[in-house]
Amino acid sequence: MRIGRVGIAIGVAMVAVACGGGGGGGDDGNPGTATPTMAELGRKLFFDTNLSSGSNQACATCHDPDKGFADPLVSVTAPVSEGSVGGAFGNRNAPTSAYTSFTPQFGEVAAQDQTPETDSKYQGGQFLDGRAIDLVEQAKGPFLNPVEMNNASEAEVVGKVQNSSYSADFIAVFGADAFNDTTTAYHNIATAIAAFEASAEVNKFTSKFDAFLAGQYTMTPSEQRGFDLFKDAETAKCANCHTVGDTSEESLFSNFRYYNIGTPTNLQNPAYIADNAFVDEGLGKSAAIDASDQAAERGKFKVPTLRNVELTAPYMHNGVYETLEEVVLHYDIQVANLFITPEVNDANIAAEMNAGTFVGLGLSDQDRIDLVDFMKILTDGFF
Ligand code: HEC
Ligand code: HEC
Repeated sequence: MRIGRVGIAIGVAMVAVACGGGGGGGDDGNPGTATPTMAELGRKLFFDTNLSSGSNQACATCHDPDKGFADPLVSVTAPVSEGSVGGAFGNRNAPTSAYTSFTPQFGEVAAQDQTPETDSKYQGGQFLDGRAIDLVEQAKGPFLNPVEMNNASEAEVVGKVQNSSYSADFIAVFGADAFNDTTTAYHNIATAIAAFEASAEVNKFTSKFDAFLAGQYTMTPSEQRGFDLFKDAETAKCANCHTVGDTSEESLFSNFRYYNIGTPTNLQNPAYIADNAFVDEGLGKSAAIDASDQAAERGKFKVPTLRNVELTAPYMHNGVYETLEEVVLHYDIQVANLFITPEVNDANIAAEMNAGTFVGLGLSDQDRIDLVDFMKILTDGFF
């Protein structure tokens, strides 16, 4: 595991070099002349393994473009990413970092749009519990997180960027005094990363589904049935939370709200192995909410996008499911039969889940296959 991680990190570093362009200025086609854009600078920061304490971990190590910007080394039995320091683990499964630039800032849902029994009072934000208001604030976290990139201080990260091969790019984008003030420089590092995360390289919109929306792909019968079910607001109800629209940009497969969908405990999560009283309360423990709302938000997590979901196993905040088939069974049967853990078996479970009805969504075997086939056309790279 440890060796594999170092191997991946080196691989990522090589990709960064390979894509950096041949010329001194590092810009494709225009060596030495064009000023790098903020997103190009952000790309270099995102792939730089030197920005971790062991020089072995970049953002891209846990958010690998080849794995839908999620971690290639995790599975149901090893569901959380290892940090720059070997043996250090967080307690959540790394989600995709793609398409996150479309998530609105964290905030309260307008009062008239709140439906108290199922919905959360909050929406948007970054992390599965919304504790970072936006991508810039999010990007400031991993560098200093001891179970992630583990730098001692903002100054240490800024110093590494100042001594990097792309230091001149940073000055070109942020000005001659870009490194003079640590707080400003650290903020600008995060700003550049957020610009990369908002770029077309990350948010490709090149899946079969996007081609379908553009009239350039005909779904197979199974994919089409899956899509119809996905949108059916009365039976499968998927799109009630995983939003689909008429255009690609309206189809981010999330309404950016928070729900408790009865995700069971992952007994293989290191946090649970260390302490079997461990419970991830999600938004309910987020520093971003009012203390008086904690009980009502217990066990709720942000609706994830399903773009590239075929590539991002395992699934859910704790990586409890290995396959999309298992996820669909969760919605169809598990929650309805309360095959869930004390962790989530409380009043907060979303009404859509039919929890405890013992009826479930009433899907047939073919329906479940169709839903999975549909989700597999959300993978970028078709055109
Ligand atoms: C050790 C693995 C690891 C590294 C390194 C890492 N991340 Fe993450 N990332 C995670 C995990 C785990 C989460 C979910 C954490 C949570 O919700 O508490 C996450 C969440 C995110 C999110 C929020 C996604 C969403 O839907 O809310 C973004 C964006 C992101 N990371 C970007 C980055 C950037 C930028 C860097 C580098 C500065 C980075 N990550 C470094 C593991 C990692
Ligand atoms: C009430 C809102 C809601 C409905 C309805 C809903 N989902 Fe979800 N979905 C969520 C939330 C919230 C999560 C994240 C839960 C967690 O991390 O524990 C999620 C997670 C997922 C995941 C895992 C994604 C990942 O990256 O880990 C998949 C796949 C998924 N849902 C597919 C579906 C399908 C298919 C349907 C319809 C059968 C559906 N969802 C219906 C809210 C919903």
